[in-house]
Amino acid sequence: MSTAFAHEARTTSMNRDDLDLNEYEPRMNRPVRIKIADFQREERPKHVIVSDQFDEETLEEMAGTADMIRMLAKTRQGHSFLLNLLPHKRAMLYFTQPSTRTFLSFMAACQILGITCNEVRDPSTSSEEKGESRFDSIRTFSSYFDVIIMRSVLSRFAECCAYLMNDLEDFNHRSIPIVNAGSGADEHPTQALLDIYTLQRTFKFESTIDSRRTMSYESLRRNPQYAGLTRGLSGKVYGFCGDIGRGRTVRSLANLLSLYRDVTMVFVSPDHPKLSLKPDLEQKLLNRNVRLHQVDSFEEQIDGQPVIEMLDALYMTRIQREHDDPNDAGAYQGIDFRKYCLTTEMVARMKDYAAILHPFPRDKNFGEIPPEIDNDHRAMYFRQARNGMWIRAAVLASLFGVDRQISRYFQSEYTERHDYNEDVL
Ligand code: CP
Repeated sequence: MSTAFAHEARTTSMNRDDLDLNEYEPRMNRPVRIKIADFQREERPKHVIVSDQFDEETLEEMAGTADMIRMLAKTRQGHSFLLNLLPHKRAMLYFTQPSTRTFLSFMAACQILGITCNEVRDPSTSSEEKGESRFDSIRTFSSYFDVIIMRSVLSRFAECCAYLMNDLEDFNHRSIPIVNAGSGADEHPTQALLDIYTLQRTFKFESTIDSRRTMSYESLRRNPQYAGLTRGLSGKVYGFCGDIGRGRTVRSLANLLSLYRDVTMVFVSPDHPKLSLKPDLEQKLLNRNVRLHQVDSFEEQIDGQPVIEMLDALYMTRIQREHDDPNDAGAYQGIDFRKYCLTTEMVARMKDYAAILHPFPRDKNFGEIPPEIDNDHRAMYFRQARNGMWIRAAVLASLFGVDRQISRYFQSEYTERHDYNEDVL
């Protein structure tokens, strides 16, 4: 067993036979720019495994599809059209790590497109209890279903399953798409898609439903402080706060944001090797010309301005105590974790148009975002969770090749005489 998997196998009580991942190791160890070819077909996703599969153009297309689906789903005729797109497809939701949002939003996304869903959430109810390997489980799912959407505590297990499917295809066996819905501390690519989609909608400065701010783009720009404000994700300052080192959502989102021009990222975390920015991600961001700062408090100043006041968007995260090493109980002594919690006073100092995001769940005991912030017009995290349903429907539409059909239908059939309520999209 590889070193990379040995620790996870110990901490997840999987036995050695279950984790015969060695054969995939040479493929996993390739540079990401090489291996993403294994997840694509004709420049479109065949599997969804890593955020590196997406470029700026694809992100725009995906957001466009999600926008069309959300508008169509609100009309009787559009809803009926969507429901009839994929009624012949079945999805397996294989979630052996806890999830609320990802699981339910994928299920809802399937329902929007007429896809039938089934689920396995507790492997103790499956024949893995009788010694069946996880790879045999995956291959068995592929016999009955047309896509596997999977979350696992194991980093890169989804990636290995994609290789398994590719190998099956090479031998003319049945092979289906794999969607990574969160893999260990590694990647959560569809979370990054919904985070980007939320930022795209927010920084269009168009829709009132994506921000309850009272000022229009034009009136914001009349404020001398915001005179340089532009639409879009480029030229913005993004803050990430909390458990940066172990947050798979941070890894995936920072990776996608680095595709945009003139981006500054500020990572606010304890100065601790497990919690702060990992060197590999830091190097990748620097290679993409991100202006990068690492600080241990929102009050630290950059170019004479406190961090909290300079952010266009803030991505809060919870401290992921489930990844603590029990042999390392004293590791965080001396860290003042209160510095990584927002307060209403801090939010009041943020830019008026700033967006506060959080992948959720938030930790009610830690309190990184207290509920009293929820009604602030900058709080986007519940809207963000809802966006997940629409963008995941777009992901499934793309995987099954019906995204262009949606676009054609939308262009030809959608009229101003729609019957949806724009305020609740
Ligand atoms: N953000 C996220 O992945 O939430 P869940 O763990 O509830 O799916």
